[in-house]
Amino acid sequence: MTPQSDQPEDISQQLEQFRQEAQQRAEIDTALNRLFAHEDDALQFALAAEHDAEMPSIQISPLQGRLLQVLAMACGARKILEIGALAGYSGIWLARALPPDGRLISLEVSEKHAAVARASLARAGLSDRAEVRLGSALEILPTLTSEAPFDLVFIDADKPPYPTYLDWALKLTRPGSIIVADNCIRGGRPLREPVEDDPTTRGLSEYDHRVATDPRLVSVAIPMDDNGMDGFAISVVRPAASEGNF
Ligand code: DHB
Ligand code: MG
Repeated sequence: MTPQSDQPEDISQQLEQFRQEAQQRAEIDTALNRLFAHEDDALQFALAAEHDAEMPSIQISPLQGRLLQVLAMACGARKILEIGALAGYSGIWLARALPPDGRLISLEVSEKHAAVARASLARAGLSDRAEVRLGSALEILPTLTSEAPFDLVFIDADKPPYPTYLDWALKLTRPGSIIVADNCIRGGRPLREPVEDDPTTRGLSEYDHRVATDPRLVSVAIPMDDNGMDGFAISVVRPAASEGNF
């Protein structure tokens, strides 16, 4: 910034630049969604069902859905665990990445949300491979050991227990599995020091710090929704042979 940057003409120039950049970002987002992450009738049905049921509109973005599919296929996923079904929108993206004999188990604590998610998955023709289990994830997770290992775990539920969900994800996966968690950036709050004293920020901060430093994982977090203000943390469960590489 120049010393004159508070001059009126500079401020209006800067505002014009911000406006143009925001417009460019919106154009890029629209073009990327059209090219890579088209929402067909089934995905639009899930969004409409979510709206009609007066559920919060907090589903992942289409590009995040596509990224989940890329990750699922990259690890050859046959069994996927989702913690937090909401309206089944992310479940549709995930289940579509499975082979016909694959399995998505999606945990949902709200009876209303579970019913909407089941209807959305049925409308997408995925009831043969996708199942919504109703109940508290912290109670259901210990019952899943006989169905493990899962090839991909997607965490997108209440934030304070994210570290406990991570413990379970590590127990229920194998080397080479992928663990993805939504909302790990959340406007930068979980990354700030000192950590704010609220349960959501503390849960997300502990999650981020653990996946960044746990020697069993190789992780990254990518800002990719809400204008770069939120996004996934993505972790690969490290194959034993790679230990010591870095
Ligand atoms: C909230 C939860 C989410 O999973 C999300 O993607 C956005 C917001 C929330 O509870 O506020
Ligand atoms: Mg989320």
